[in-house]
Amino acid sequence: MAKEIKQDPKQPKLDMARIPNHIAIIMDGNGRWAQARHLPRVAGHQQGMDTVKKVTIAASDLGVKILSLYAFSTENWKRPASEVSFLMNLPIRFFNSFVPDLVKNNVKVTVMGDISRLPKKTQQAVYDAMKDTEDCNGMILNFALNYGGRDEIVRATRKLAEQVQAGDLQPKQINEKMVDSHLMSAQLAPYTDPDLLIRTSGEERLSNFMLWQVAYSEFVFMKEHWPDFNGELLKKAIVEFQQRHRRFGGLKNK
Ligand code: IPE
Ligand code: IPE
Ligand code: MG
Repeated sequence: MAKEIKQDPKQPKLDMARIPNHIAIIMDGNGRWAQARHLPRVAGHQQGMDTVKKVTIAASDLGVKILSLYAFSTENWKRPASEVSFLMNLPIRFFNSFVPDLVKNNVKVTVMGDISRLPKKTQQAVYDAMKDTEDCNGMILNFALNYGGRDEIVRATRKLAEQVQAGDLQPKQINEKMVDSHLMSAQLAPYTDPDLLIRTSGEERLSNFMLWQVAYSEFVFMKEHWPDFNGELLKKAIVEFQQRHRRFGGLKNK
């Protein structure tokens, strides 16, 4: 009997022609990463900052157009004051050390969220980073800071209601495009909606992230905690994305 050659099923490879335009990441698991090492939770946030740098460069090198990173939610204020304070200082240290690399890589910084509630020094660091990278026209690194999807929708609703009250808008004129253009993600047009949403640390929920925009995103949940994430795992998530059949409510194109 002829010996059967056992072939490994062909491992799917990264298709550089089909890199998602917009990748959004819920960077989760910093605290658990630290706790597993008997370190204070903030050590995980510190390490997570280095992961942000590595993943930003990796995404930019792959040709991703928008990388949206969930850094602080409208609910994260519930955490102990010392942890909140550490998280508020992180953007200052992040941008101080990383803006030159961002400029070198032609990466532009944008922010979603109510940054007026952040400490003044943090606000300044964010504004400086946006100013210093405003001429970059490569990837957009979009931070969600004091961001909540529901808060974003409430604010858009309020703006539309004000236009109606002023007599500038008829309720029946309100459509999806108009709502979209009043969300904090409007600045990312034409790539407001993430193609791929990644969440690390094994949790499988949205935690109030980009609720409107992820209507047809592909979700990839990974077990690794954020400080252990890297460019290789990003590629793995993209390969997984490339195996999916996006139908947008239509029929499978096969
Ligand atoms: C994500 O890590 C970072 C932020 C939410 C700011 P966590 O701090 O949520 O880490 P875990 O989920 O407690 O491990
Ligand atoms: C979501 O993570 C927020 C960020 C990653 C910034 P959380 O750790 O706050 O979410 P929950 O509380 O586990 O849902
Ligand atoms: Mg968490």
